[in-house]
Amino acid sequence: KELVAGIDIGGTGTKFGLTDRDGNVLISNSIRTNARESFDTYLAELHAGIESALAQVGDGYQVVGIGVGAPNGNYFKGTIDDAPNLRWRGILHFIEEFKAYYDVPMALTNDANAAALGEMLFGAAKGMKDFVVITLGTGLGSGFVVNGQVLYGYDGFAGEVGHVIVDINGRECGCGRQGCLETYVSAPGIVRTVQEMLGWSKSDSALRKICYDDLTAATIAEFAQKGDPVALKAFDFTAKTLGIKLADMVAHTSPEAIFLFGGLANAGDLLFEPVRRYTEEFMLNLYKNRVKILPSAIGEQNAAILGAAALIWHDMDSKNEQS
Ligand code: BGC
Ligand code: NA
Ligand code: ZN
Repeated sequence: KELVAGIDIGGTGTKFGLTDRDGNVLISNSIRTNARESFDTYLAELHAGIESALAQVGDGYQVVGIGVGAPNGNYFKGTIDDAPNLRWRGILHFIEEFKAYYDVPMALTNDANAAALGEMLFGAAKGMKDFVVITLGTGLGSGFVVNGQVLYGYDGFAGEVGHVIVDINGRECGCGRQGCLETYVSAPGIVRTVQEMLGWSKSDSALRKICYDDLTAATIAEFAQKGDPVALKAFDFTAKTLGIKLADMVAHTSPEAIFLFGGLANAGDLLFEPVRRYTEEFMLNLYKNRVKILPSAIGEQNAAILGAAALIWHDMDSKNEQS
């Protein structure tokens, strides 16, 4: 039976799964993304991972295609272009190099675009023609679906909202500039916010007892649930920074819904409630009270795996239709 491997490359982990054409992930696993010095070694490890997953699903299966979602991924070129959160900078020819392992059709797109596609085909965006996906992980990714199509733009790089500047004198970003949205609104972004806040304020926060290096977005969420004032303030600041930008974005493509994915979105109402409130507050009257801000129905990583794989399934289907 035919399977397509879907790969979701994140700044921290790379998740991969074997999918069937009905949108089931038969098996999935992950490797660390930045653990290897060379990109070649990473690809070899990824290949080994896919092969061992294939061995686990049993006999009679074969990989007939590979779809990839990657930060700074380019669908037109099959490359990863200088991704801020990967240790291998410059242009990585993913598809060209991975052809050394598999002689099957391959496609690569931006990770958030892949998530948007997955959500549209198999998740809560089913039937929606205009929506936006924002992924809040190591970086901030975005995928825009307009009139039922993922927006690629002139060069395949449409939708890099993580790097819109929210403060011209702001934090240094991995892209080489300053004040990008993702330096505030992402898992490491909220950690930086808390570190700054602990520096300024004298408020009595139990977060002070945590070693700087052990501070994670998940810990901050945990402390916020318990009512820690600094953790709560950090969530409020993060939500406001995001809400203002989402309100702006609504003016660009007028989406039906905005989906929030990823590590930070796992904080649930802690994030969604203030993001909804601030987005409404800063949005033009025209759009008020109608834009839904929702969690993913299938989980960020499965969405990206399924979306990336769907690039291949879709191409195979259209070829079958032609013949
Ligand atoms: C990259 C995007 C990516 C996002 C999430 C950003 O730093 O520039 O392409 O979608 O991180 O991984
Ligand atoms: Na994108
Ligand atoms: Zn940036």
